[in-house]
Amino acid sequence: MNIIKLSAINSTNDYLKGLTAAQFVENFTIVVTEDQTGGRGQMGSKWNVEPGKNLTFSVLIKDLLLEINEIFNLNAAVAVSVIEGLESFNISNLSIKWPNDILAGNKKIGGILIENSIKNNGEIFSIVGIGLNVNQKDFGELPKASSLSLVTGKEYDKDAVMAGIVENLRRNVAGILNSNTNFIWNKYHSKLYKMGVPMPFDKEGQKFMGIIKGVSKSGTLEVQLADDSVANFSIKEVQLLY
Ligand code: BTN
Repeated sequence: MNIIKLSAINSTNDYLKGLTAAQFVENFTIVVTEDQTGGRGQMGSKWNVEPGKNLTFSVLIKDLLLEINEIFNLNAAVAVSVIEGLESFNISNLSIKWPNDILAGNKKIGGILIENSIKNNGEIFSIVGIGLNVNQKDFGELPKASSLSLVTGKEYDKDAVMAGIVENLRRNVAGILNSNTNFIWNKYHSKLYKMGVPMPFDKEGQKFMGIIKGVSKSGTLEVQLADDSVANFSIKEVQLLY
């Protein structure tokens, strides 16, 4: 496994992207840092965590050609790989909040940011960024954040946790390459937070009740509405209120 360990960097996603522009980088190369000073999250948010205590890393996945209507296969595989990696450390009560927040109970312990790019020579690079709260115990003003340590009361070896996640990621990406994604989607849905339960949603400031029926391979959320029709919402359109 090719692992680049850094003590501090702006963003591991940006660092890995820069590296691929400058030189040949092996498939599944990992960039991990102790302190990420400009971590980026979904939809332009920031990812700020305490230095030294958590996992902030990015993995390069090459040439995973995904059709636009199946673009979410990789997101599902990454979320499932994080869950499977953590389950091997006996962390229970894990779920995936659409699109790919990792929850323990109803608190967020991890997030995923995947960025795809096509190089001039046609190569496709997916940069899979994973932030996982491991040994941090204080989240100050963030009541919905938690960590492995807060959940179990134990301290974790970050390298071992990362290795567990990446091992599952390799296997699940191989599944996608063999067009065998059923097992990924079955697991994704079995772990989907609030699946089948009436829940409040927000769509551009309007609140409504709906029941999550599933997530499509393009990443839209399928929600059964009050009139029993099923609507598909994109990530930017709705927010699950919890
Ligand atoms: C989210 O839930 O909003 C996604 C957070 C993703 C954070 C990770 S940490 C490693 C990688 N580098 C970044 O700048 N972001 C991702």
